[in-house]
Amino acid sequence: MDRVNLAFAGLGGRGAGLVDLVAEMDDVHVPAVCDVYPDRVDDKVRRVESAFGYRPAAYTDYRQMLARDDLDGIVIATSWTTHVEIALAAMRRGMYAAVEVGGASSVQECWELVRVSEETGVPFMLLENCCYGREEMAVLNMVKKGLFGELVHCQCGYEHDLRSEITRGGENRHYRLENFTHRNGELYPTHGMGPIAKMLDINKGNRFISLVSMTTKSRGLHEYALNELGPEHPQYNTVFNQGDVTTTMIKCARGETVLLTHDCSLPRPYSRAQRVQGTKGIWMEDKNAIHFDGMPGEHWAPMAEFLAQHDHPVWHHFLNDGVRGGHGGMDYLVQRSYIEAIKAGRQTPIDVYDSVAWMAITCLSEDSIACGSAPVPFPDFTNGKWISRRPRPDCYWTLDGVYDGER
Ligand SMILES: NC(=O)c1ccc[n+]([C@@H]2O[C@H](COP(=O)([O-])OP(=O)(O)OC[C@H]3O[C@@H](n4cnc5c(N)ncnc54)[C@H](O)[C@@H]3O)[C@@H](O)[C@H]2O)c1
Repeated sequence: MDRVNLAFAGLGGRGAGLVDLVAEMDDVHVPAVCDVYPDRVDDKVRRVESAFGYRPAAYTDYRQMLARDDLDGIVIATSWTTHVEIALAAMRRGMYAAVEVGGASSVQECWELVRVSEETGVPFMLLENCCYGREEMAVLNMVKKGLFGELVHCQCGYEHDLRSEITRGGENRHYRLENFTHRNGELYPTHGMGPIAKMLDINKGNRFISLVSMTTKSRGLHEYALNELGPEHPQYNTVFNQGDVTTTMIKCARGETVLLTHDCSLPRPYSRAQRVQGTKGIWMEDKNAIHFDGMPGEHWAPMAEFLAQHDHPVWHHFLNDGVRGGHGGMDYLVQRSYIEAIKAGRQTPIDVYDSVAWMAITCLSEDSIACGSAPVPFPDFTNGKWISRRPRPDCYWTLDGVYDGER
């Protein structure tokens, strides 16, 4: 396939930016876009026409868009609770389905994604761009080379001061407000967990077996509303259910633990707080440093000393070719990995089992918190296939390690 026809559902900040990113690629055409808000659809159609010289068809109902016969795939950048129904409908129509990041609302919807992808043979991909971050890919490379020894413990999270975005979600028509008002759990697990799960071979010789989740009181958003929004604002008296800091411990079948933190309603600088620790060494993102066994006891070597030597080949090429796209380039890489899978008619580098294992953390953590931080068993979405599946770095875009064939 020389050219991929990609439709887009969800034209908020993220979806609108992604349309611009992919429409610029020579081998991508965007024949159709959809949002429930007509003004967002109109803006996007006009923008594509002025920048790229053609008008995508405009839809406010994704079902009508999916009835088209010319779509190879869809990028779904809608609100978290609408991702799955659109992806299921797309797979049933035979088109590759990719969803933007977010957690699942129920274990049942995760199973449905698995069943429909298995039955139709159509790939489903969570577009976890952080899997293609430069540091994450270099550490993946180092893990696969055995530099950290056998992995024992990892940490990660989403630590991002979103008080303004969340509390102003009414006037900005943003879905996070409703989620933080009504839910309480690890709402955004995949930026941290995606790269770590790949390092831990989850669903390929390893799996998540249980989790425990705990959350703090909720203060940050209310205090922000009192101090910054004023008594006339609709969120001035809102009682937010979501705790300010949610921590989740996950146990893996091979014996590793992962500590995951969600921290979006207090003042703080951004971090994904990654830590990868094995029998021979440790990487800490917040220190931007690595320590290996044999270095002097307290010595942390700067990450920069290792990057050039252990850059993943995908990043080596990307740096030579010219980094482009948002979030330091990883938005471009994750879209390319999806588009190349469609062109080659092969499985996506983040498959349905990866996707649902990461997404399910959200609803399982909500269950754990609702039951007083009770341990919750983790479903085996592979139905036992994890025992014999193994990482297979079988294409350039693989996240199973490093591909040693031609680019
Ligand atoms: N990977 C990243 O770095 C990154 C960054 C930002 C956002 N995101 C993700 O992108 C997604 C969207 O985020 P956003 O900030 O753009 O949100 P947003 O609320 O600004 O936009 C979501 C859009 O989806 C539309 N929508 C909702 N239901 C729909 C439906 N049934 N059919 C069609 N359109 C529908 C809404 O009208 C809205 O315009 C989320 O999953 C978010 O987590 C990812």
